[in-house]
This record gives sequence, C-alpha cells and structure tokens, in this order.
Amino acid sequence: MAQKIGILTGGGDAPGLNAVIRGVVVNGTKSGYEVWGFIDGWAGVLNANAKQLSFDDVEDIHRQGGTIIGTSRTPIFPKKGSPDRSDEAVASLKKLGLHALIVIGGDDTQGEADRLYKDKRFPHVVGVPKTIDNDLRATDYTFGFNTAVEIATQAIDRLHTTTKSHHRVMIVEIMGRHAGWMTLEAGMAGGAHVVLIPEVKFDMGEVYGVIKERYENGKGYTIIAVAEGIEETDESKGTDAFGNIKLGGVCETVQERIQEWLVENMEKPYPEFKFEARSVRLGHLQRGGAPTAYDRILGTRLGIQAVELVKSETWGHMVSLQGTEVKAVKLEEAVGGYKTVPEGRYEEARLFLGL
Ligand code: F6P
Repeated sequence: MAQKIGILTGGGDAPGLNAVIRGVVVNGTKSGYEVWGFIDGWAGVLNANAKQLSFDDVEDIHRQGGTIIGTSRTPIFPKKGSPDRSDEAVASLKKLGLHALIVIGGDDTQGEADRLYKDKRFPHVVGVPKTIDNDLRATDYTFGFNTAVEIATQAIDRLHTTTKSHHRVMIVEIMGRHAGWMTLEAGMAGGAHVVLIPEVKFDMGEVYGVIKERYENGKGYTIIAVAEGIEETDESKGTDAFGNIKLGGVCETVQERIQEWLVENMEKPYPEFKFEARSVRLGHLQRGGAPTAYDRILGTRLGIQAVELVKSETWGHMVSLQGTEVKAVKLEEAVGGYKTVPEGRYEEARLFLGL
C-alpha cells in the first residue's frame, strides 16, 4: 500500500502556495505516495479533516493565488491564552496513517512544525518557507514576496500620476509586520520619495524636510511608502492566535501629522497651493490574485524538493532557497526570529530618496 504524505498551508496566504501544493502532489504521486491535503492548516489536523489530492485536483493551480486547501492561524502547542492541543494533533496524524507531514508556512507555522519534530511523537516533518513579508530566516527569498512587491510597485506607479496632478502628499501603506522588505523594494521600484520601515528609526522632521524641499524645487508632490509595522504598539486592534498584534492603518496617523504640518508651515509661504495629504492602505490586495512567474517557479521547485526530503527522510528540515539552489536547512534555523532589512540595503535606497 502507498505511504501517505500530508500537506498543510498555515498563516496568511501567499501567491505561490498552489504551486507548492501542485509540486508536492506531482512529485509525490509520481514517486509512489498518496498526498493528502489538510483543510485550513493546523485546524484541519486537529479535526482530522483531510482529502486526497489527485493530478486533476492540482491541474493548472500554479497559476492561481490563494490556497486550494485553505489556511488558518491555528496553533497546536500552547500560546498566550490558548491550550496545548498537540495530543489531538498527533492522534489525528496517526489515525490517518501518515508517513510524513509537509508544512508550508511562515515563522509561526514552522515554529509548530519544529516543536512537533522535536517532541518526537510525530517527527516525520518537513517545512516549506512561505510569507509575502520575506522575513523568514534561513532562506534568501520566500515565494509570494515577488508578487506582492510587483503589486505594490504598480500601485505606487499609479499613485504618481494622480498625486502629481493634485500636488498632494500621498502616503501608501504596505504590508510587512516585522520587516520592511516589501516597502523598501516597492518603494525603490516605484520611485517613492520617502521610505519608512521598522528597521530604520526616523524623525518626522526629516520627512517634512523632503516634502518642503520637493515643493521648493517645483516638484509639487511627494509619495511616502510606509511599512505597516513602523508602529507596533496598538494592541486595541487585537491579536491573532499566535499573539501577533493586528496591524493596518498607520498611514492614517502619518497622513494626519503631515496634514497638520502642511497647514501650519506651507500655506502661508505658498498661498497659491492647497496643500493636502492623502493616504491609501494596500492591505490584502498585495496577497490576492495570480502569482508572478518567479513565484510560480519558486513554489513549484520548493514543492518538488520537499518531497525529495521525505524520500531521503531528512526530517526536521525545511527546503530553502540559497542563491539559485534549493537546499535543506534545519527548521530551528528558520524560527524564533526574523530576517530584517540590513542597514546597507536601506542605504542604497536612501541615495534616491527625496528625488
Ligand atoms: O504575514 C503576512 C501578512 O500579510 C502580514 O504582512 C500582515 O501583517 C498579516 O499577514 C495580516 O494578516 P491577516 O490576513 O491575518 O490580517
């Protein structure tokens, strides 16, 4: 009888998840395994809710965003305020007679996978890194990031024409909880005049300086790219099941401050202009829709190689992109911290800011 591989997608969806699923199903099935998809991440494991995936189920899905098996932010090990449900998870994996579990997710999801592996009750675990934020350690890039940066870049491109026409200041908020990768890259590609990310302390005085200089140089408009995570203090928005504060909306705070400054400092010397700051939050637009070719290929390669790790019984490891190669790294190298933007990368972008 064929051995069974389980697969789950956890945390926020990312374009490219379906490419990974297809890669696992195709390589897994051709290698003689049955592949079973858990519905809605770890929630599917807890509920023993899984379905077998055939070639027909995954036909062409690498071109679609989202995940055909659903996702959730459900922990199995205890978190702040949530119980230990690992017994239920292990019982369910054993009941389904699984040989291995492939876990596709970011830091939170891989953290559960690493604990499951180390806990030894079900150690046949392999990870696949995912997040549009690109902040997972031990891999150069995560799929979904490229698509999200492309979407944010197109948004900034569009904002240039309207912002310039109205001589406004536009604040565009880009996702990225702990790291400013998306804001940095979309800001660079889209030609934002100011880029604010969690890794680099900033002073609103500098931001006002750029706006003033641009008006004085006759440019008449400014685009400011802001990472949603520049302020992570507002617990009033609630937290998810892993204790992460829900973000979104910092662009409005920045907008209000800039509007006040514009009225106080710019209206008198430049009475001919009506100074106005506006903001737009890209939010989940960055996670939706079809993946770029890059993310389709990266997801496919990671899915194929995850099955290879199952075949070689390389348990407790995650497939990882290193340069152009897919290699195996220990799950523990990926979790418990974040890959943030190094100073040098921001310095490169800084050369073009304000221009
Ligand atoms: O981790 C990916 C991400 O899109 C973050 O950039 C964002 O803060 C978070 O997920 C939003 O999560 P949710 O869709 O659960 O609100």
